[in-house]
Amino acid sequence: MAEPLVELAGVEHRYRARKADVPALGPLDLRVGAGEFLVVVGPSGSGKSTLLRLVSGFERPTTGVVRVLGDAPVPGRDVGAVFQQPRLFPWQAVAGNIGTALRWAGVPRRDRPERIAALLDQVGLAALGKRRTWEISGGQQQRVAIARALAARPRLLLMDEPFAALDALTRERLQEDVRSLTGEERGVVFVTHSVDEAVFLATRVVVLSDRPGRVALDLPIPLPRSGVPADELRGSADFAALRGEVAAALRAVAA
Ligand SMILES: Nc1ncnc2c1ncn2[C@@H]1O[C@H](COP(=O)(O)OP(=O)(O)OP(=O)(O)O)[C@@H](O)[C@H]1O
Ligand SMILES: [Mg+2]
Repeated sequence: MAEPLVELAGVEHRYRARKADVPALGPLDLRVGAGEFLVVVGPSGSGKSTLLRLVSGFERPTTGVVRVLGDAPVPGRDVGAVFQQPRLFPWQAVAGNIGTALRWAGVPRRDRPERIAALLDQVGLAALGKRRTWEISGGQQQRVAIARALAARPRLLLMDEPFAALDALTRERLQEDVRSLTGEERGVVFVTHSVDEAVFLATRVVVLSDRPGRVALDLPIPLPRSGVPADELRGSADFAALRGEVAAALRAVAA
């Protein structure tokens, strides 16, 4: 691997609680490179969200080092993030939400309309820029959140159960779109509880153990990234075998 996008070395994280510290994560060593779509699964409370908070720089590890592009991560500078709830600004239209992200990213005002249009197009919302955020569906709101996360052209995209609140069909459609968000330059770290979603999206799946989360399985997913229709891929024997392997590891850590 060339310079990794993300590097965790000897990372442990404990939260301070009233009586005793709560060990949430680690010890953990993990590297994520450009072009990788890493999906993290694990039992509830195994530290998945903690891992994303450490990588985004919102939280510092109790022990060990977290590096993004070789440096300590600075919140909002290095990574784009999407959460379970879209957290849009209700006082702004769809386009305005993306425009604000572009402003934060330092994009000059005159360049913003074109970038807003391109981002809306990328997430399939070209016609909805003028809508209010409460006038669009949950799936569309999550698309706006994705466009907003992409506004600063981050090398790294973090997603924490972004589709958990969506209906099954919308969820599958968004999975198909999000699958192509990696590229030569970009990497994605994605958290989910769905084994199907993990195997479909990932180039690599990490299963965390029960709290404090450690790597119980680190599995490459060598499924084709283009050329095969999504339905065919989901129905393939290779897909089923990988899903079985991830599910077995999850059962083992939950036992
Ligand atoms: N701010 C906090 N203060 C104290 N303990 C916390 C805090 N945030 C998380 N924890 C604890 O740390 C552990 C890991 O939490 P985390 O949210 O990372 O888990 P998770 O894997 O994302 O769980 P879920 O699948 O339910 O989202 C849990 O036991 C949780 O109770
Ligand atoms: Mg979580």
